[in-house]
Amino acid sequence: MKVVIGGGSGFVGSALSRLLRSKGHEVEVVSRRPGAGVTWTHVASRGLPPCDAVVNVAGANILNPLRRWSRSFQQEVVSSRVETTRTLSEAIALCPHPPRSWVLLTGVGYYRPSLREEYHEGSVGGDFDFFSRLVRDWESAARLPEGTGRLVRQVVVRAGVVLGREGGALPPMLLPFRMGLGGPLGSGLQPFPWIHVEDLAGILLHALEGAQREGEGEGGVEGVLNGVSPSRCTQGEFAEALAGSLGRGARLRVPAALVRAALGPERALLLLQGQWVAPRRTLASGYRYRFPRLQAAIDNLIH
Ligand SMILES: NC(=O)c1ccc[n+]([C@@H]2O[C@H](COP(=O)([O-])OP(=O)(O)OC[C@H]3O[C@@H](n4cnc5c(N)ncnc54)[C@H](OP(=O)(O)O)[C@@H]3O)[C@@H](O)[C@H]2O)c1
Repeated sequence: MKVVIGGGSGFVGSALSRLLRSKGHEVEVVSRRPGAGVTWTHVASRGLPPCDAVVNVAGANILNPLRRWSRSFQQEVVSSRVETTRTLSEAIALCPHPPRSWVLLTGVGYYRPSLREEYHEGSVGGDFDFFSRLVRDWESAARLPEGTGRLVRQVVVRAGVVLGREGGALPPMLLPFRMGLGGPLGSGLQPFPWIHVEDLAGILLHALEGAQREGEGEGGVEGVLNGVSPSRCTQGEFAEALAGSLGRGARLRVPAALVRAALGPERALLLLQGQWVAPRRTLASGYRYRFPRLQAAIDNLIH
């Protein structure tokens, strides 16, 4: 199949492109940069290139330490997700031959952080802070009008912290942890919903292809899937596993006040709080994880 990937030049998009190409699929990236693929302006004005499936993984990096959490950066964080998603869903709706599937990658920030609650894909959320409302608006920008919606299978994948060598949370942590200066963030007791980037790419491919396990509903994979590993861990356990894989200790706790000073109080919550998220529908739809356990995932990325 031919797949159009919004934001396909990024960390998750590159992993997904590699996986798709390795399975013999064709990929076309939508980018801000004309050299990197078809541009957003092109899609908005001339429509979608002919394709069988569309996925959006675009979005400015929220935890970019070089960007202050200013009003204008917050607007960029929102528009790089909501406007790119709307551009694709409008193009799909106008397409004379719509694709078979339309997949959006969002985040588990939809669910309210808690030390007790466990969330699954049917849990309520999306209405309590900047990040949850962002996910709500992002997902609603993806919704297709009813007529097109009947022809196109729609899936939203809500990802946890994505672990990989080429981007996301892991690379900036490696130097301090290698120097023995790594440790839990704040109390370290906050839930840490994580996923290996190869599994996230695998879930996105599963959503694009849409084959459902026999006896698990009809019409293929549809609706929300949580893009997190099935095993639980706290942020402190993650720090210990990473330090262990590097042959170091993780005794130096990073005080919450330092995280707040570096990122601003609102953004710091993304690291200092977390939610227990179960991939209930992801498993029920037949996805098989390559890295369900944290230590094996980290060892794979480090060694
Ligand atoms: N990484 C994680 O841990 C994680 C966890 C949960 C959810 N997610 C979500 O997954 C998506 C992809 O994450 P990622 O880590 O792959 O991100 P990334 O590598 O930082 O960026 C993905 C792509 O988004 C495009 N982009 C960046 N800023 C943009 C802007 N201002 N306007 C339009 N496009 C912009 C870029 O493509 P061009 O430069 O080619 O335009 C970039 O290659 C994001 O929406 C993110 O919120 C990520």
